[in-house]
Amino acid sequence: LLRNVFRTKEEVWEGRFDWYKKMRAESPILYDENTKIWDIFLYEDIIQILKNPKVFSSERRNNNIPTSNSIIAMDPPRHKQMRTLVNKAFTPRTIQSWTPHIQANIEQLLKKINDKSEFDIVKTIAFPLPLTVIASIIGVPYSDMDKFREWTLSIVSGPKDNSKESIEENTKRMYQGFKDLSNYFSQIIEKKRSHPQDDILSVLIAVEEDSVKLSDKEIIGFSILLLIAGHETTTNLITNTMYCFLEDQSVFNQIKQNPDLIPKAIEETLRYRSPVHAIPRIVKEDIVIRGQTLRAGDEVALWIGSANRDKNQFDQADEFNLHRTPNSHLAFGSGIHFCLGAPLSRLEANLVLSELVKRFPTMQLKDKMNIEPLQSPLMYGLKSLQVITQ
Ligand code: HEM
Repeated sequence: LLRNVFRTKEEVWEGRFDWYKKMRAESPILYDENTKIWDIFLYEDIIQILKNPKVFSSERRNNNIPTSNSIIAMDPPRHKQMRTLVNKAFTPRTIQSWTPHIQANIEQLLKKINDKSEFDIVKTIAFPLPLTVIASIIGVPYSDMDKFREWTLSIVSGPKDNSKESIEENTKRMYQGFKDLSNYFSQIIEKKRSHPQDDILSVLIAVEEDSVKLSDKEIIGFSILLLIAGHETTTNLITNTMYCFLEDQSVFNQIKQNPDLIPKAIEETLRYRSPVHAIPRIVKEDIVIRGQTLRAGDEVALWIGSANRDKNQFDQADEFNLHRTPNSHLAFGSGIHFCLGAPLSRLEANLVLSELVKRFPTMQLKDKMNIEPLQSPLMYGLKSLQVITQ
């Protein structure tokens, strides 16, 4: 799916919504001959596809990375077995019990800001928080956090630019990161087998469901998936919500007067500036949609970033509305693969945004005209978000 559909900063941040709108009106389902990918833009079509895993498979074309064997890339019936297992480690009660731990992490990170009059939301908090939280939930000891962070970064950083050399260099670095993390998890799993602790790795090692135990390879794949799926996405959610607050001071004023609106603001950000913009699927059987025949083996790109602005689903879809009800956005997907980490990312975002609003009521964007979006078609967020606090 990683095609260069948006070339400039403006295209990747705001312009993409104009493109989605045009596509929804003129070509809601469009085939790209070169890549054999169907781009799909309407809410109605996307939700139907997400609810039809028999025809639209989650298998990956590239099978040689650890996460290609994990639940996000699995079909029924194996998906159901695995999901039932991992759900045990992600019950609402368990997630709620992480609150003090997340709060302690927020406190630590905000200490570094102290009373600085200017800082970068991404660097100081939105980026480090989800990584530290997910690492300790998985069960990485604090003493290993630095090397752990380094390996994760080598996987998620992306190429420096679009040149062939940078892309090759990035692929090499990514595979090395996967290798380092896999070796690391193998050792840790051995230790936890004899000395279980209060963390996900220990739960996954111990858990047994209809005698479908997880193999070490599956536990490693799942841990790496949690890292990747749970990190940049949550970073983008925190950054994008803060951006929505500061982009329009009247929104920020309402939030300050009534911080209880923060959970609704997070939902509206998930819709309006979704952290993830596209989900892949592979067609298993020929199927006709809107008169077009999708063939077995074709790939589909489900543009949830477009579905979330579809006027047939949302009134005033291009407006950020703090009071929007209902708000059935697709930011976490839908159907059997609905995001496992949704409650965790909502909790993290709620805790950190509540704290930021309380501590920095005078916060403003440093330079609204000069923001740095991620140059990615799939992930939607900012490389940095400079704010001033006085
Ligand atoms: C699945 C988005 C945070 C773990 C998904 C899917 C989306 C998504 C769209 C569906 C993929 C598909 O249907 O193929 C997001 C967003 C997040 C977020 C926008 C933050 C705002 C997290 C976190 C974790 C996580 C914090 C881990 C703790 C997963 C897993 C799946 C998944 C394991 C696969 C579930 C399955 O296949 O059954 N996520 N995610 N996500 N997400 Fe998230």
